[in-house]
Amino acid sequence: MARSLLEIDDLSPSELAHLLDSAARWKKEPDTAPRALEGAGVALVFEKPSARTRTSAELAVYSLGGHPVALRAEEIGIDQRESAEDVARILASYCVIIAARVFDHGVLMRMAGAVNTPVVNLLSDIAHPCQALADLLTISERFGGLEGRRVAFVGDGNNVVASLAYGAALTGLELIVSSPPGYELNENLVDRVRNLGGSIELVTDPHEAVRGVDVVYTDAWTSMGQEAESEARTKAFATWRVDSVLMAEAGADAVFMHCLPAHRGDEVTAEVIDGPVSVVWQQAENRMHTKRALFAWLVQTKESE
Ligand code: CP
Ligand code: NVA
Repeated sequence: MARSLLEIDDLSPSELAHLLDSAARWKKEPDTAPRALEGAGVALVFEKPSARTRTSAELAVYSLGGHPVALRAEEIGIDQRESAEDVARILASYCVIIAARVFDHGVLMRMAGAVNTPVVNLLSDIAHPCQALADLLTISERFGGLEGRRVAFVGDGNNVVASLAYGAALTGLELIVSSPPGYELNENLVDRVRNLGGSIELVTDPHEAVRGVDVVYTDAWTSMGQEAESEARTKAFATWRVDSVLMAEAGADAVFMHCLPAHRGDEVTAEVIDGPVSVVWQQAENRMHTKRALFAWLVQTKESE
C-alpha cells in the first residue's frame, strides 16, 4: 500500500521533521523545490467549503509541476453516485495523489484501502493533519524550534487540536488543552498521544491553561457539519474566548494562532487576532509550503518503493 496522510501519526518523528525541513527550505528558495509532480494529476475532492486548503493545495501541485483537479462533492456523489472505493479507483487511474476533505473520516480510510495511491486528508470530522503541518512550521519559525515549547489550545476538542496533539507528540511540543465540559478531546486520542511520548495536559480553566505558554491557539466553536449545535455551543464556550486579558496571562513573547476561518467576537476578539501577537496570516501562508513538501515526499516515497 502507498503511504498516505490521514492523521499526523501516519508519519514517524523523523519523517515529520524532514517534511518541516523541506517546507522551510523551499519557502526560502522556491526554485530549489523539485518538479516532483511533472505532468501528473492530483485530485482534490471537497465535501465541505474551503478557501485556504483548496488554494494552497492547487498552488502546491502547480509549483511541483503537476496539475490539480478540484472536484466538489456534488460533482462526484461519494457513496451516492458510486462508492468511495470506486471513486478512489477511478481517481487513482488518472492521478498520483488523491486528497479529500470529507464529513466522515471512514470515507478516507476506505479510499486509502482501495488503491495503491497516496490519500491525503484535507480535513475530516476527527483530523486536520495538513493544518497541523503548517502550525508546526509556524511555531518553529517563530521560536527557532519546537522541542519544549508550550502551546495552549483554548476551545473545542476538535479535528484541529487532535492533529496538533499528534504533531506535538512527534516533535516535543508540550500541549495544554482547555475545553468546556462535554467538549473535551477524545480520551482514546489523549491516551494514544501519551503512548507516543507526548506531553498533553487537559485542564478546564482557560486561565490556568495559558499561564506562561508560548502559543495560545483557538478554533471556531462550531465546526463545519455541527451548525445545528451552534446555539448550545455559543452558550457553552462563552468563557473560552481568547481576549487580551487571556493573552496577557501567556508568556511575554507569546503568539496567537488560529487555523481560520475566524469568528471575531466569538472564539477570539478582533483586538487579539488583528493585533501584533497574531501570526494567523503566516500560519495560513505556511499551508502552501507544508503541502508542497508533503506532496513531493509522498510521490518520491512511492517511486522509491
Ligand atoms: N484552515 C482551513 O483549513 O481553512 P479552509 O477551511 O478555508 O480550507
Ligand atoms: N474545526 C474546523 C476547522 C476549519 C478549518 C472545522 O472542522 O470546521
